[in-house]
Amino acid sequence: MIRDLTDDEARAALVCKWGEVEPDVLPAWVAEMDYAVAEPVVEALHRAVSAGMTGYPRFGPGGPLGEAYAGFAHRQLGSTVDPVKVLPTVDVTAGVRLVLDTVAPAGGLVFPVPGYSPQLAIAEITGRRRHDLVVDPDAERAELDLDRLDRLLADGARVLLLTQPHNPWGRAFTRAELEGVRDVVERHGAFVVSDEIHAPLVLDGREHVSYLDVEGTADHAVAVVAASKGFNIAGLKCAQLVTASDRLHTALAEVPMARNDSWSVLGVEASVAAYTHGDDWLAALRRRLAAQRDLLVALLAEHLPLARLRPVEATYLAWIDLRAYGHDDPAAVALERGRVRLAPGHDYQPGLGGHVRLNFATSPERLTEIVHRLATALT
Ligand SMILES: Cc1ncc(COP(=O)(O)O)c(C=O)c1O
Repeated sequence: MIRDLTDDEARAALVCKWGEVEPDVLPAWVAEMDYAVAEPVVEALHRAVSAGMTGYPRFGPGGPLGEAYAGFAHRQLGSTVDPVKVLPTVDVTAGVRLVLDTVAPAGGLVFPVPGYSPQLAIAEITGRRRHDLVVDPDAERAELDLDRLDRLLADGARVLLLTQPHNPWGRAFTRAELEGVRDVVERHGAFVVSDEIHAPLVLDGREHVSYLDVEGTADHAVAVVAASKGFNIAGLKCAQLVTASDRLHTALAEVPMARNDSWSVLGVEASVAAYTHGDDWLAALRRRLAAQRDLLVALLAEHLPLARLRPVEATYLAWIDLRAYGHDDPAAVALERGRVRLAPGHDYQPGLGGHVRLNFATSPERLTEIVHRLATALT
């Protein structure tokens, strides 16, 4: 069910990931997958374009998109979502900004670091101070430091931007961990924006626990979700804000149109198809990604035995500690000497040397070549 794109197909389809590198460079950087789009999504898009569905989308919450997401959340994530409390927004980044600008309390933003690089700037853009919740690069397991979160909230930070599952940590936080977050947040009357874009990509049969499914979070949290990472449709521009309280739902649904009106009708059609008819494809994708992850672990053990990779529980993005090889910017060395483009670790944690993020959502052959090239470049 998962069809690998050929190099030519990938170059034509993924104009960012493949188009922004020289022809001899293998791209393993931005979070896009080198796989053909799921058939139900392609069919829905063909149908929509043939029918001339190129106008504005429906405005307002709920509707077919709300129903489709609620169904998906129930089947795939074990979540009970009120379809009416699903509100479209253009993409996850814009959705996070919107929540911070409109319903989250004013004040500092706590951001787990290393973190999704564009979101490092989101505190400043929304007029807040950023407080980093840093994972020690030597820690065995990447965990949210609840004591530090407690101190930051005690010192005046008001909002936590949670990424769950986490990019680039590769963690799917457990219910117990999220309950710990809730307890600290509640103690300080703080707020959580939960970026759950990677929820469909939890591997090995693990469960994704939405922060909104943790008891007692409804009044202080908004989840931002999308089919875009799970189904490789980020360019279609449709994410969703999910709430579990009437107050937050109403506040978001009533923001002026000029703040939230840019999602696309094709994004809605594709997301409805993915959420409604994509389960089998997604199951096949998760199996493929788990196999790719295992292959990566084996390749690193053989060719870069000093590399450190914590268990990847979710996403297709591996956070690799290459400090033992002595390069401050291994991604630059990999590009120059190995002709492979990885994402530099310092983009995710300013000042951190020796780390890269590697996207393994490609074919086994390409992944093998990527690691060979990386090993040749670094050693
Ligand atoms: C955690 C996280 N949030 C947001 C995004 C971006 O989402 P969007 O393109 O919908 O803004 C990404 C992209 O990879 C991501 O990893």
